[in-house]
Amino acid sequence: MLSRKCASLATRAAARGPGGRPFVRVGGAVACARRVHQQPAAGPRPQHVGILAMDVYFPQRCVSQKDLEVADGVSEGKYRIGLGQERMAFVGDREDVNSIAMSAVYNLLSKYRIDAEQIGRLEVGTETLIDKSKSTKTHIMELLGANSNVEGVTCINACYGGTAALLNSVAWIESSAWDGRYAVVVCGDIAVYAAGPARPTGGAGAVAMLIGPDAPLPLSHERHSHAEHCWDFYKPEMHSEYPAVDGHLSNTIYLRSVDVCYNHFLGKTTPDGSVRTFDYMCFHSPYNKLVVKSVGRLLYNDYVRSPDGCAPELSKALGQWHPDSVAPSTTYADRGLDTALKKLSADVYNAKCAPSAALSKEIGNSYTGALWMNLVSLVHNVRSALEGKRVFMFSYGSGSVATAFAIYPRAPSAAQNPAFTCQAIAETIDLQNRLSSRAEMSPAEFTAALLLRETTHGAAPYVPIEPVETVTPGAFYIHEINSAHHRVYVQRPIADEADDSVSATS
Ligand code: ACO
Repeated sequence: MLSRKCASLATRAAARGPGGRPFVRVGGAVACARRVHQQPAAGPRPQHVGILAMDVYFPQRCVSQKDLEVADGVSEGKYRIGLGQERMAFVGDREDVNSIAMSAVYNLLSKYRIDAEQIGRLEVGTETLIDKSKSTKTHIMELLGANSNVEGVTCINACYGGTAALLNSVAWIESSAWDGRYAVVVCGDIAVYAAGPARPTGGAGAVAMLIGPDAPLPLSHERHSHAEHCWDFYKPEMHSEYPAVDGHLSNTIYLRSVDVCYNHFLGKTTPDGSVRTFDYMCFHSPYNKLVVKSVGRLLYNDYVRSPDGCAPELSKALGQWHPDSVAPSTTYADRGLDTALKKLSADVYNAKCAPSAALSKEIGNSYTGALWMNLVSLVHNVRSALEGKRVFMFSYGSGSVATAFAIYPRAPSAAQNPAFTCQAIAETIDLQNRLSSRAEMSPAEFTAALLLRETTHGAAPYVPIEPVETVTPGAFYIHEINSAHHRVYVQRPIADEADDSVSATS
C-alpha cells in the first residue's frame, strides 16, 4: 500500500506540476485546479476514440549492449547487430511493477493536469506478477484519492495485456455504459531472463495513456487477431521472475502471427493494399531484429498474395520462393529468404518503421509496454507531421495472442484540450532529454542488480538495500515490504525538492 508519507509526497510533487500550474489536493490524489469535464454520451456514439495523451516511465539505469557483448564473451556485434539493441534499462530491488506503473500514471496525470475525478476507468496490462490476486490496478488507485468509482482491472496474457487493456477501455468509451469520463491505461513490465542468450533481450518500462473521444491517435474499428496454444514463453514458477522460454519457437509464432494478422487486416480494410498502404508501422518489439524481420515478412506476404501482380522488384527477387513451389508456412527458418527480405525491405524499414523502433532499442523489451513505447517513439520523432497518416500496429503476446489494427493520427477538434495533439504529446514527453540523462552502468553492476532481484524475490519482510538514488527523481520506489507482504511505496522527490524530501520521509 502507499504510505501516508507517499501520498503526501505525491501531493507535494504534484503541487508544483511540470507546467508550473497550481495543483489542488483531492485526498492523496494527483489533482489539478483546472477540470475539463466531458459529457456522458448522449445521441451519437463518441467518435475518434483513442489515445488523447501519453507518457512513459523507464528506469534511470541502463547497460550498453556493446559492454555486455564483451562481458558475456559473445562475438562482437551479436547483441547490437544480431539482436539490434543498443542499451537495456534495468532495475534492482527498489522498483517493482507497481512502482513503475505508478510512476508512469503519475507522469501522465501531473503533466497533462488531469483531475483524478475525471477518470472512470483504469486498466493495467502487465505480466510482471508479484501477487496472484491483488492487482497492480488497485495499487495505482492510491493516486486517485477520493475517486473510488473506477472500473477496470489488470489484464494478463504475456506481452499482449497492454493491448487488451487498451481495447477494453476503447470499448467502454464506445459503449452505452460510458459515463463521459476518461479511461487511463498503463502497461509495462520488468523483463528479466536467466543468464544465457535471452538475457540481452530484457528491459524495463511502462507507458501510461489517457483514452477518450476526439483523440489525436484514434484506433481503427477494423482489426484482426490470431490466437493459438503454444509453449513459446511462459512463467510457471511463481518463486522466480524468469520465464521458461523457447526463443526460436517464439520468433516463429510471432512471425506466423504477423502473416495471419497482416493479410486479414488488409483483406478487411484495403484488399488491394500492400506495405504502401501504411505510412508508418509499430510492432511489438522483443528486440529490434525481430521487428526488421517483420517488415520483411510484410513484403513477403505482399508477394505471396500476388506473386505476379506485386511490385516488379519483389517478383524478380523472390521468384525462387513462389508460393506454388515453396509453402509459406515452411519459410520461417529459411535463411536465404530472410537475407533477401532484409535487403528488399531496408528502405521500407528505414522510412516507415525506424522512427517507432528507436526507443525500444534504448530500453529493451518492456513486454506489455513495448508496442506502446514504439508509438511514443513515433510520436516523438514525427510530431505534427503524423496527422493524416496511417499507422499499422501489431501486438503480440506469447502463448499466444496477436492483433493487427491501425491508428489514424489526426488533428482533434477545436473544442479539444490543446494538450492533446501529436505535437504537444511529443513536447510533453521530452524523450531525448530523459534518455540522455540516464546513467550507464557496467555489466557487473547490471548482473549484481539482477542477482539481488533473484535472491530477494518474494522476500517478506524486506527492506530494499539499493540506495534511493538508483531511482529516477519523481518516480515511486519500494520503501519496505512488511511481514504481511504489504508493499509500501514512496515517491522520490524531483531534484529541486531534495531538501523537502529528507524531512518528509524521516
Ligand atoms: N554479429 C552480427 N550478428 C550476429 C552475431 C555477430 N557477431 N552473432 C550472432 N548474430 C546474429 C545471428 O546470426 C542471428 O541473426 P538472425 O536472427 O538474423 O539469424 C541473431 O544474431 C541471433 O543469434 P542466434 O544465435 O540465432 O540466437 P540466440 O541463441 O542468441 O537467441 C533469441 C536469440 C532466441 C532471440 C534469444 O535472445 C531469446 O530467446 N530471447 C527471448 C525470446 C524473445 O524475445 N522472443 C520474441 C517474441 S516473445 C517476447 O516478446 C518475449
